[in-house]
Amino acid sequence: MTDQDKTVETLISEQAVNSFSAAPDARYRQIMQSLVRHLHAFVSDVALTEQEWFEGIRFLTETGHKCDGLVRQEFILLSDTLGVSMLVDAINHRHSANATETTVFGPFFIEGMPEREFGENMAFTPGETALVRGRVVDTQGNPLAGAVLDVWQTADNGQYSGQDTEQPFGNLRGRYRTDPDGYFAIRTIVPVCYPIPTDGPVGRMLNAANRHPWRPAHLHFMIDAPGYRKLVTHLFNHDDPYLESDAVFGVKQSLQVIYEDRVVHDDLSARLGMNLPFKRACYEFVMEAE
Ligand code: BEZ
Ligand code: FE
Repeated sequence: MTDQDKTVETLISEQAVNSFSAAPDARYRQIMQSLVRHLHAFVSDVALTEQEWFEGIRFLTETGHKCDGLVRQEFILLSDTLGVSMLVDAINHRHSANATETTVFGPFFIEGMPEREFGENMAFTPGETALVRGRVVDTQGNPLAGAVLDVWQTADNGQYSGQDTEQPFGNLRGRYRTDPDGYFAIRTIVPVCYPIPTDGPVGRMLNAANRHPWRPAHLHFMIDAPGYRKLVTHLFNHDDPYLESDAVFGVKQSLQVIYEDRVVHDDLSARLGMNLPFKRACYEFVMEAE
């Protein structure tokens, strides 16, 4: 590359960055100028060919076409598999004291799922019976009554209801509330590991990189209590083979739980009508004040 080539290329990049310099919103200006700067640096760094540039455009177009506005959101999947979702999460939860750690939201949450009683069963498809129970507290350990826990997980076939249209409405989903002492109880099945969808451009990307699509078994939580930051997290099965290689980089040590084997009864299970052995996981969620 001659000095003249370099000057032409630098000039193009400078012009593109400067074209945003009159944007009235300072944050918008900062984001767009930085985006253009990094995008140009990337293109220069790899000396992108025209064919590769076109392939990139095609990939993004296909990513958009794969989204259905309901349960399939290929852009979230792309962000997740590039580690961007977890980076945004980390940046936005830097000062969390002893609050429960957060993790990726994922594309399979559905709003407006059934309200469920304390200890109600949310599993209408087979699996290993489990009781997930615990407490929601503030950073001083005070119980939070009436906190809402939105919970979702896949069925034993590795698919979420909504994604898998054969499953009953609301299967393995629900909105639970803590009791006056901050306790919650969810009757369900033990989560299983599952592959993220690979029948789209993100799947092709993983394949080209020799990356597997698996997520370790987990139960999703979104917890809301007035005056506290909304908590989006998972509880991971501690013995899952994919904990070290989650396709979306979401695992944190503090979010791993043991499903105790063959619990026959505890102080709750009889009241909930659980008379066969079940697995039990316990966790205390700590919410950070707003
Ligand atoms: C999930 O856990 O539901 C999920 C997260 C990221 C990508 C795909 C699925
Ligand atoms: Fe999930």
